[in-house]
Amino acid sequence: MNKILAFETSCDDTSVAIIDNNYHVQVNLISSQVKHEDFGGVVPELASRLHLKNIMQLTTAALEKAQLNFDNIDAIAVSVNPGLIGSLLVGVSFAKALAYSLNKPLIAVNHMLGHIYANKIENPDIQAPYLALVISGGHTELVYFASNDSFEIIGRTRDDAAGEAFDKVAKLLGLGYPGGPIVDKIAKEGNPKFADFPRALNRKDNYDFSFSGFKTAVRNYLEKHSSQFIQEHLADITASVQQAIVDSLVKKTINYARKTKIKKIIVAGGVSANSLLRQQIADQAKKIGAKVYFPAMQYCMDNAAMIGAAAIEKYQNKDFADLTLNAFSTKGIRFL
Ligand code: KG4
Ligand code: ZN
Repeated sequence: MNKILAFETSCDDTSVAIIDNNYHVQVNLISSQVKHEDFGGVVPELASRLHLKNIMQLTTAALEKAQLNFDNIDAIAVSVNPGLIGSLLVGVSFAKALAYSLNKPLIAVNHMLGHIYANKIENPDIQAPYLALVISGGHTELVYFASNDSFEIIGRTRDDAAGEAFDKVAKLLGLGYPGGPIVDKIAKEGNPKFADFPRALNRKDNYDFSFSGFKTAVRNYLEKHSSQFIQEHLADITASVQQAIVDSLVKKTINYARKTKIKKIIVAGGVSANSLLRQQIADQAKKIGAKVYFPAMQYCMDNAAMIGAAAIEKYQNKDFADLTLNAFSTKGIRFL
């Protein structure tokens, strides 16, 4: 059994995991940087300093928890893009130093592909062709994978990402960061038809997303109502917000799957944890005879297990990086 030691430091969470080539996660440790909460968002310089502080300790703890040592590791995997450049550099430099000193192969992973491969941990047999809805704090992309090594972007956001829309609305409501999980929880008690927020780019053959007009509409709505009204109807407002974001995501994905008769849909990225999205996309997919896959809840948000999962095929294909490997922050899914 081969074992991959994987690192994820693209944003604010430092994560170290060990996964074997059957997609069995032996350990997945995540050190969340709660310090950013005070600022209502991630402070890049603070994030890289905290990665630097955490990464060695977390690596030692991961090996201990899995009862392994470096000799038992067959390869080192690391996310190299997209992300905050200072944060990515900590993971990449650390992984390179380990690979060099231990004389182990190094595998470079695109963070967004990592989110998609998080699905393989629960369902190792998923194979392309499939449609992937990739929805995180920085990305919203609808991507068609014809095979494991070719993809086409069907649609993407023209402004904010879906997660960002949740985060920004939560900030307007003074709910804390990250906003998605908080809105999801409060919205459970609310009426999703209470307020009517816009669904942008609503034409049937348009697969791009846009959330900036929606965000402005929410801001205008909040400015028009008293803080007492907002507090009294917080559950209804968050439920309406959530319904508007989810409607856009589900409708475009299902429209494309229906048109092209795709029968497999993969949802990936932090927003794939959303309870309404899970329920509604599963219901709609059922109506067109398609099957939907989600990552297990613990692999929705950023984690190193998904980076290890995306590295397994690369390990099998001996698709290794050399020590000139560098981090870069360009957005989007890509094969490195
Ligand atoms: O994939 P991720 O962990 O980090 C990025 O690569 O960006 O995604 C984080 C995003 C945040 O915007 C967060 O608010 C959102 O995922 N998120 C959710 C939920 N859980 C996390 N959004 C909606 N509902 C959730 N339950
Ligand atoms: Zn992510």
